Amino acid sequence: MMNNISKTAIIGKNVKLGDNVTICNNVVIYDNVTIGDNVYIWDNVVIGKKPMGVSTNFRKLQQEDKPIIIGNNCVIACGAIIYQNVKIGDNCLISEHAIIREDTELKGDDIIGGGTLIQYGVTIGERTRILNNSIISSKSKIGKENFISWGVSTVSDKHFGNDGYTEETVGPVIGDNNSFGPNVTVLSNISIGNNNTIGACALISKTIGDNGVYYGVPAKLVKTKDV
Ligand SMILES: CC(C)(COP(=O)(O)OP(=O)(O)OC[C@H]1O[C@@H](n2cnc3c(N)ncnc32)[C@H](O)[C@@H]1OP(=O)(O)O)[C@@H](O)C(=O)NCCC(=O)NCCS
Repeated sequence: MMNNISKTAIIGKNVKLGDNVTICNNVVIYDNVTIGDNVYIWDNVVIGKKPMGVSTNFRKLQQEDKPIIIGNNCVIACGAIIYQNVKIGDNCLISEHAIIREDTELKGDDIIGGGTLIQYGVTIGERTRILNNSIISSKSKIGKENFISWGVSTVSDKHFGNDGYTEETVGPVIGDNNSFGPNVTVLSNISIGNNNTIGACALISKTIGDNGVYYGVPAKLVKTKDV
């Protein structure tokens, strides 16, 4: 099938489009972007944006053009912004005004909700859903088949940005098949195992294992699941 590209879209150099790609009004696609088959890109999307530092103590930002890959059957909704060196696997939905920062990978069949920010260097496994207005902090690692409700935040350092960027800026490691209720906060330097339920508004401040139900501030193990 033919591609359908709006006259108002701006498409950079070395952009490879698959079959049956729709690109709507005012989309900007920077250089070195590869887009698979059956991809629908709604109005005002930006793909391939370079990161821009605002302070000298920020980590060194790479300004060379790095490739961006969008897999087959993805939908990128209005106003989403996807930075450089992002890989989005097949069958992903990136909802309205989501931001996916540089060096991040979504493995496939993932949903990123509207207004959600995925910071730089994050990996997200297959079939994970993150609802609206969540913030996944830099270098978080999230496994597959997680359900992350709206307004969930993860944190990557203890210094409130005062020390600038250090290599210790690392988000939590989250396993597979966990469910997070709305407005959960997960602090830095911890890991969460597999198959847990984290109740609404919980504060996860310590590493937790598998198969638990947790809630409260700070979160406590309320019960263990039969598996
Ligand atoms: C985990 C969850 C389902 C509750 O689990 P539960 O064990 O069935 O809890 P219950 O409703 O039986 O409540 C048991 C007790 O815990 C309390 N409680 C329940 N959830 C709580 C929470 N998140 N934080 C603090 N206390 C909580 C209840 O008030 C109740 O207190 P009581 O014993 O003094 O009466 C709930 O906290 C939750 O997160 N819901 C959101 C689900 C969701 O995300 N849905 C999709 C949204 S898109």
